[in-house]
Amino acid sequence: MKKSILKIAPSILAADFSKLAVEIQAIDDGGCDYIHIDVMDGHFVPNLTIGPQIIKSIRPYSKKLFDVHLMIDPVQPFLEEYADAGADILTIHAETSGHLDRNLQIIRSLGKKAGIALNPSTLENVIEYVIDKVDLILVMSVNPGFGGQKFIKSQLKKIRNVKKMIGSRPIEIQVDGGVNVENIKDVVDAGSNVIVAGSSIFDNNDYKKAINDLRKAAEG
Ligand code: DX5
Ligand code: ZN
Repeated sequence: MKKSILKIAPSILAADFSKLAVEIQAIDDGGCDYIHIDVMDGHFVPNLTIGPQIIKSIRPYSKKLFDVHLMIDPVQPFLEEYADAGADILTIHAETSGHLDRNLQIIRSLGKKAGIALNPSTLENVIEYVIDKVDLILVMSVNPGFGGQKFIKSQLKKIRNVKKMIGSRPIEIQVDGGVNVENIKDVVDAGSNVIVAGSSIFDNNDYKKAINDLRKAAEG
């Protein structure tokens, strides 16, 4: 089967927040595909990060897709605000309270792409009855909350299972957490076509090189 083109989504969680606009322009110039924005609430995950005002203020600095990963619960009261702030993709967690099916419908009704994220311990079958309402499935390869964690290898099996479930549907498989030049090939071979990378990009001085190195490593 023809492999789809790999997309790289740098996670700005690992960027220098004192100069976020400059960092975003640098990953844009470096050839990234999406800009991955981790939103954390100190409740669903043990960390607090980015509110809609920040997304709105960085929106003018790149035309790339803003891929907003919502690690917040409840999520439904905030969907419209994050959509208005400039998100292109809104990904919500399957483990959040509220109604997954309804929330995915709300995201699409706001004119945004809908993503569903699965924590490492979550079974992939949770997507079975909502699969036709999603544009992206995010397989978490670390427990959400922090950058710089070690990739959890058992998630490769989940990626393969999700790939089978998707069949010919035009749904992207995103993998998030601990991806680097050492393991990206395994992740892509398992079926992922959108790679989130925080520290493996921002820990380098040259983001363009870091993004290209990931692409090269993915080809093997
Ligand atoms: C974790 C976040 C990830 C994280 C990735 O909760 O969802 O996007 O920033 O960072 P690395 O690539 O450093 O694991
Ligand atoms: Zn993320």
